[in-house]
Amino acid sequence: MKNKRSSGWFQTPGYPGFSRRAWLRSEGFPADIFEGKPVVGICNSWSELNNCNAHLREVAAAVKRGVLAAGGVPLEFPTISLGEMFMQPTTMMFRNLMSMDVEESIRANPMDAVVLLCGCDKTTPAQLMGAASADIPAIVVPGGPMLAGQWQGQRLGSGTDGRKLFDLYRTGRLTDEEWCEIEGCIARTSGHCTVMGTASTMTSLAEALGMSLPGCANIPAPDSRRMAMAELSGGAAVDMIEQDLKPSRIMTREAFENAITVLMALGGSTNAVIHLAAMAGRLGIRLTLDDFDRRSRRTPCLANVKPSGEHLMEDFFYAGGLPALMNRIGDLLHTECLTVNGKSLGENIRTAQSRNDAVIRSRTQPLSTEGGIAILYGNLAPDGAVIKQTAASPELLQHRGPAYVFETRDEMTAKLDSDDLPVDRNSILVMRNCGPKGAPGMPEWGHIPMPRKLLNQGVNDIVRISDARMSGVSYGTVVLHVSPESAVGGPLAAIRTGDEIVLDVAARKLELSVSPQEIRHRLGDFEPPPRHYDRGYGRLFLDHVTQAHLGCDFDFLAPDYR
Ligand code: FES
Repeated sequence: MKNKRSSGWFQTPGYPGFSRRAWLRSEGFPADIFEGKPVVGICNSWSELNNCNAHLREVAAAVKRGVLAAGGVPLEFPTISLGEMFMQPTTMMFRNLMSMDVEESIRANPMDAVVLLCGCDKTTPAQLMGAASADIPAIVVPGGPMLAGQWQGQRLGSGTDGRKLFDLYRTGRLTDEEWCEIEGCIARTSGHCTVMGTASTMTSLAEALGMSLPGCANIPAPDSRRMAMAELSGGAAVDMIEQDLKPSRIMTREAFENAITVLMALGGSTNAVIHLAAMAGRLGIRLTLDDFDRRSRRTPCLANVKPSGEHLMEDFFYAGGLPALMNRIGDLLHTECLTVNGKSLGENIRTAQSRNDAVIRSRTQPLSTEGGIAILYGNLAPDGAVIKQTAASPELLQHRGPAYVFETRDEMTAKLDSDDLPVDRNSILVMRNCGPKGAPGMPEWGHIPMPRKLLNQGVNDIVRISDARMSGVSYGTVVLHVSPESAVGGPLAAIRTGDEIVLDVAARKLELSVSPQEIRHRLGDFEPPPRHYDRGYGRLFLDHVTQAHLGCDFDFLAPDYR
């Protein structure tokens, strides 16, 4: 077989080859395992500290069956895993660390191809960043979304509905008993969150990029077809070796443009803007925020899935899933792009059909005529900011109001539920020091909860602005990723409570109604907040993380530094 990298380990003459074969045989492999067979690594982000990926050892077993049946040798290996629910201060702080773990595990070990098992939010981009840098044949098999929760006749989407119901609970409209029942059923199966959050978005974009078999991304975790797809992917990994189907041949600039278009049609997570920029950067491809906005303006949002729409990932799969959605926007895609099965994207989606137009809307009846995400610029965000317009309140997309500034998230948490908080439905909440360096790690704090005082008045949404990210399952008129961030002296640091802010999504504008001289004057007094780390990985992160519009990768991981 051509392109057999592992022979450099196992077929070396003399003692080195002998010792590698002998020590691997300690795992119980027979002697003929080394006779010309390709080695497929299975990069497993399984962890009991990451519930979304906790079933991936079963998925790995199915991948192994596929590798063996295709004549390969599967070798499963762990990396760190990033469990969204548990890691402090935020999984985003460790995405780059996981990507380095994945890259170096691939690079240092005898494998000819790698199957990437992912699911929870950051695990997919981290694996793709690492695989892109290592650049051997790679294929993505996500664990799939959960099934819908069921409570008192309602179908619950993990994430989105939890947050909505929590607002009812904290304003006394749900009892402790009801809240306890919800806790027991909102995440009732294996798999990642079942709305179009970051996990569903990134696994779908992996498929849109051509890095998964067609139809792979959206199969629910407990569905038997998830295991069948894993087995097929194991076989595909073996085939990819002969064809030398490396990430650099699949994840081209055109493939990333496809991913951006699909992101918009999905109404996908704002986090994808950061992750796609970082993934592309590993291959020397520069994606700008304008690349996203251009495609947003011409791409209709068709996926009627929460938080932008009404349905859940399970429904999206039954309706035909990603291939059906991509078929609907085929004219907006580069259909010639190569994918992991050696076929073009166009060949893969040609016969895919929507089976439920209520879930995958037609082009004539889109959820919105533009894509889910809009990019804003202005004196508050010279390098851009992001809003998920499809999950915002339409009446707030053009809004002018007085700022109320929280210096930190701790201050926000302490004051938010005060009955004296001087805010009303026109106020704009601003929160600083939540960006890549300021928080640090740019946590998903941008969905500033609604002040209880306003919820009690029946006000469910006001404009909120920060340099943080937001969970992909969240909703509301929330401006995120303001760049440069306040902790490095971005203009967000110049806002004072009472200043007027103008948000105009149609005009893509985010402006502080304060003179340039006054903004300069205020920033002249800027003092950076204290550094959070002076040693270890935290220090490496603070020294090298890039700003949001550049993808928050480490500056030394771009190709120029290789
Ligand atoms: Fe893992 Fe939502 S917590 S995807």
